[in-house]
Amino acid sequence: MTNENTTQQPAQSAFTLTKREDGIAILSMDVPGETMNTLKVEFGDQVNDMLDQIQSDNDIKGVVIISGKDNSFVAGADISMLASCQSAVDAEAIGKGGQAVFQRIEDMSIPFVAAIHGPALGGGLELALACHARVCSDDNKTQLGLPEVQLGLLPGSGGTQRLPRLISVQQAMKMMLTGVSVRAKQAKKYGIVDDMVPRSILLDVAIEMAKKPKPTRKPVKLDVMGTFLERTPMGRKLMFKQARKQTQAKTLGNYPSPERIIDCIETGLEKGIQQGMALEAKHFGHLVMTPESAALRSLFFATTEMKKEHGIEGVAPKKLKKIGVLGGGLMGGGIAFVTATKANLPARIKDIRSDGIAHAMQYSYDILNKKVKRRFMLHSDMQKQLSRLTGAIDYVGFDNTDVVIEAVFEDLGLKQNMVADVEEHCAQHTIFASNTSSIPIAQIAANAQRPENVIGLHYFSPVDKMPLAEVIAHEGTSDETISTTVELAKKQGKTPIVVKDGAGFYVNRILAPYMNESAEILLSGEPIDQIDKALVKFGFPVGPIKLLDEVGIDVGTKISPILVAQFGERFNSAPGFDKLLADDRKGKKNKRGFYNYEGKKPGKDVDESVYDLLGVTPNSRLSDNTIAERCVLLMLNEAAMCLDEGVVRCARDGDIGAIFGIGFPPFLGGPFRYMDTLGIKHIVERLTYYQQQLGDKFSPATCLTDMAEDNKTFYS
Ligand code: NAI
Repeated sequence: MTNENTTQQPAQSAFTLTKREDGIAILSMDVPGETMNTLKVEFGDQVNDMLDQIQSDNDIKGVVIISGKDNSFVAGADISMLASCQSAVDAEAIGKGGQAVFQRIEDMSIPFVAAIHGPALGGGLELALACHARVCSDDNKTQLGLPEVQLGLLPGSGGTQRLPRLISVQQAMKMMLTGVSVRAKQAKKYGIVDDMVPRSILLDVAIEMAKKPKPTRKPVKLDVMGTFLERTPMGRKLMFKQARKQTQAKTLGNYPSPERIIDCIETGLEKGIQQGMALEAKHFGHLVMTPESAALRSLFFATTEMKKEHGIEGVAPKKLKKIGVLGGGLMGGGIAFVTATKANLPARIKDIRSDGIAHAMQYSYDILNKKVKRRFMLHSDMQKQLSRLTGAIDYVGFDNTDVVIEAVFEDLGLKQNMVADVEEHCAQHTIFASNTSSIPIAQIAANAQRPENVIGLHYFSPVDKMPLAEVIAHEGTSDETISTTVELAKKQGKTPIVVKDGAGFYVNRILAPYMNESAEILLSGEPIDQIDKALVKFGFPVGPIKLLDEVGIDVGTKISPILVAQFGERFNSAPGFDKLLADDRKGKKNKRGFYNYEGKKPGKDVDESVYDLLGVTPNSRLSDNTIAERCVLLMLNEAAMCLDEGVVRCARDGDIGAIFGIGFPPFLGGPFRYMDTLGIKHIVERLTYYQQQLGDKFSPATCLTDMAEDNKTFYS
């Protein structure tokens, strides 16, 4: 490339304009001091200056917008700027500002081409959509999407208007309502990009495109049904009605942004782009100020912050080269999978049965093979990942493991034996990480020769999907062991929280009283589906009784006595539940639980025979609100105690743990943020109210009554 001249904005600009002899200018974006490009409000002026220069220079015949970063086009807008908005009008102004800059690009008389490599998300994709043509690299890193809905927002810089005009309305709506991004190949297929090329020629191809006249947009090809639904007034009416119905069924009214997205798309298509844009900015402004979006944004910041943390401040993790896994069952199989495929580390599996090894291998094969079949993965990549998994029924190959994750049966004696085995067969430095769901780590480490190497690493089922891991240090665990275990969990794609040792750790401890209360409500005669419905309406992904079926009724009853032993009566499980186990009801896994698992719709209908077994005559008396409030209040109260006792290090970790480990409604921001929203005084009042009616398990935590007196909140 022969450069004529290069103009950079004064000090620290993110943009550089390079004019080539052939009349094409390269507008490169490279936000100084940051690893990824994100859009900031102040860039509006910088881009406008660049556009002024381009407009005043008649030699420029076309422009290519490209990123100066190696790994991203533009990963989105910098959402931290939204925190300074005092009102919906302030936030609307941000949307309007973005719209105006992008509109100016679209209105340019010469062609603008976006050359995309790496993520083009949110504002990044909106920028690309404002260009006259787009080309992307075929790299795995390249992904295009409008994920604003995941933050309780909508694409506020023209995305709701331009995407449905570029590709099929239904496809555009799906992308905006789910927030999922698409890879290069799909982007080309849907028509989001005009071309997809190897990265090595991305810029050259974009330059050639910019030399051609501005392309006129051809409407995307649709089949007969698509044409009816998108190109006739009657069809569109039907399409939007259906979309609203499906959205309402999914959000249950808990998330305000999807409906607003549909409004914007519909208004734009029915009343024209100007009205569409105006509504988009208005709705964006409104959504920024909703508590749902504030909660979802805080969750985003928390996870970003946690990615940078080490477990123990200032203590570096040890280098990880090889991992051992003891037990190839349900959990071991999942742990081996995330080790080999996410952490890209060799995993050596040991089981006492060769069946166990085979099961673990099969677990990974099944998941990867599905990806290959759907063409999300090359067969050769699957083989590469599977080759990281090996196994045996002895300790051969364990001597050089850095961490051994134990996932054998839940039995203290057995787990102590595992510690002794690892100390005998592995290296001095090998960490023993137990995936116990209930046994205090100090007990597992009781006979250890190197207790500093023993730690808990508690995953949630199914391991490949659940994002949380609890890292549990007992008193003798070394800081280096903590940092190294946190590092391993992060490499496996988990968000780890470091919690204090003790019965139930954090997640199961706050879950238990919630589950117990739902069982009490059932025993008082409330129908099972009514209870589950109330908590799903509250925002949980599944109701508590269904959850018990999923996790295993036997598992639930095992944890309960351990909690009672440490914390006393408030953890007493509902009387009569032992009858379920006596009736061999373990839940979904043996197809005998609270729900029916035989027939056409397994797990959908309640197994009515359970009522007789429990001696209950179902009769709905309580409101959904009361059911949800009773269960959730106990979870909140227990969470407050956990923070007070240092079981979780901070409110943020407690919120993340509940959302990622249990599915606490993300739009409420987690138990602590939710308590702040309701007001601690209100929480104490409601707990006291139920304490008077239902007993001392509702007795408000002392830390809560203190906070209420002092008008304190968990977050400042
Ligand atoms: P599982 O029964 O599916 O698998 C246990 C495996 O360990 C079996 O393959 C068994 O052959 C093997 N095993 C038994 N003794 C062994 C030994 N001496 N050496 C090597 N392998 C041995 O059990 P699951 O569900 O995978 O649970 C494992 C651990 O994870 C338990 O401690 C459990 O409490 C915990 N956990 C379970 C969760 C769940 O949802 N299932 C969630 C979180 C933790």
